Amino acid sequence: MAGTWDLVIRNTTIYDGTGAKPTVGDVAISGDRIAAVGDVSGEGVQEVDARNRALAPGFIDVHSHDDFAVFLTPAMDFKVMQGVTTDVVGNCGMGAAPFPIAVAMFSGLHGRSNVPEWHGYAGYLAEIDRNPPSLNVAALVGHGTVRYSAMGNACREPSAKELDHMRAVVREGLESGAFGMSTGLIYEPGRYARTAEIIELAREANRTGGLYASHMRDEAAHLLDAVRETIHIGEEAGVPVQISHHKASGRENWGLVNESLKLVDEARGRGLDVTADQYPYTSGSTILQAVIQNGGLDEPGDTGAVGTIPPEKLLFASTPKHPEWEGRTLKDLCDQWKLAPRAAGERIAAEEGPGAVVVMETMNEDDVRTVMRHPSTMIGSDGLAMGSRPHPRLYGTFPRVLARYARDAGLMTLEEGVHRMTGMPAAKFGLKERGQVRPGFYADLVIFDPSSLLDTATYDQPRRYPEGLHHVFVNGTAVVRDGLHTGARPGRALRRNS
Ligand code: CU
Ligand code: ZN
Repeated sequence: MAGTWDLVIRNTTIYDGTGAKPTVGDVAISGDRIAAVGDVSGEGVQEVDARNRALAPGFIDVHSHDDFAVFLTPAMDFKVMQGVTTDVVGNCGMGAAPFPIAVAMFSGLHGRSNVPEWHGYAGYLAEIDRNPPSLNVAALVGHGTVRYSAMGNACREPSAKELDHMRAVVREGLESGAFGMSTGLIYEPGRYARTAEIIELAREANRTGGLYASHMRDEAAHLLDAVRETIHIGEEAGVPVQISHHKASGRENWGLVNESLKLVDEARGRGLDVTADQYPYTSGSTILQAVIQNGGLDEPGDTGAVGTIPPEKLLFASTPKHPEWEGRTLKDLCDQWKLAPRAAGERIAAEEGPGAVVVMETMNEDDVRTVMRHPSTMIGSDGLAMGSRPHPRLYGTFPRVLARYARDAGLMTLEEGVHRMTGMPAAKFGLKERGQVRPGFYADLVIFDPSSLLDTATYDQPRRYPEGLHHVFVNGTAVVRDGLHTGARPGRALRRNS
């Protein structure tokens, strides 16, 4: 007998993504959409009994660096196995176009890998549609990539002509469907941009309704100035603001998030749409060169944007030319070479270039919780898909928030936790008809066991999938079934205003 629906999921506890209390019922899927929610009559061609399990919208990773990974590892197992159905790429000023610059920038993560060449953001998004990964992709225009294409690594203000060039590249991205522009103001070449340049370019996002996302100039002693700058850019350019990986970095700066959150509250009180994202760990991860440039390995004092990082708290995630260093601490190598932290770091950076990626413990658990509790915070992994020892956030971020922070620590209800990774980011980024379990919306769904859900990725063994996650659907197609990746690649390029 032909079914009324392609698939019906029965008797499940529905977290609809709005933050509302869960309800028990059925969800019917037809094609790529949710067709009915509640007490569904009629049969499905397929039926899934999800008694005692939770159903939620697929998670939206608002902070990813998977611009190239979606072509290099299109199964995107590290994301879909944790329930992510949409990746926002192009964060921290690193974007997918112009192509030659993007290839050079992402070579730090992936080497000089073979990907099909694309032209502009239109070309990038078209390539995703031609060669889709397992999840949906939404892009931000990366300011650093744009600036490099206009003026290389020059440490100065752009000329009028260079600024025009940048404006044109940003505009191409936004008009092609990018959801905003990001900056990475601790990285080359973004760190050489003054506030006025960023405001000029962010105005382009105002024309298309996009947002401004920033890895701010300082997450350490000058965190508050950096938050003020970010808010100022949003207010001047007339665009919503997203603070990337909100944190206070470096022991001497712990507690500052209480003040930075006040600045966020004040700006919200004035009417600015400012929110943030966060990964649920006390360690960060970035390229070693940036840590050195920003004074992270200098003696404690008024160091730069990342705070002071004790050498025993810095771990090598990826050193492709010297895999024997991966998993070791800087302290270990300092002792072996009888070198001070900065000298040892420079030796490694000289050998590895941008390929040296580190994991460093710079945050405080109380701060992580303070930021997470705040209503402005959504979830983003900031995962870097590279090396033998990536930061465990690449595999564990979303289940970790729901299991350890919502369920176990009681920081928020499960429905609130789900909201922070579904309905809230969908609304903020403008991902239409996604992020809620609602008839007519796309069938991006995740089914998990709320009592056994758990991230299992650790710093020692980061490449481990979470437990308790049973099924994941992307555009109505099962990408994970009974805890196993199906190999399906139903992802799409998402475009703003279409
Ligand atoms: Cu990032
Ligand atoms: Zn960043």
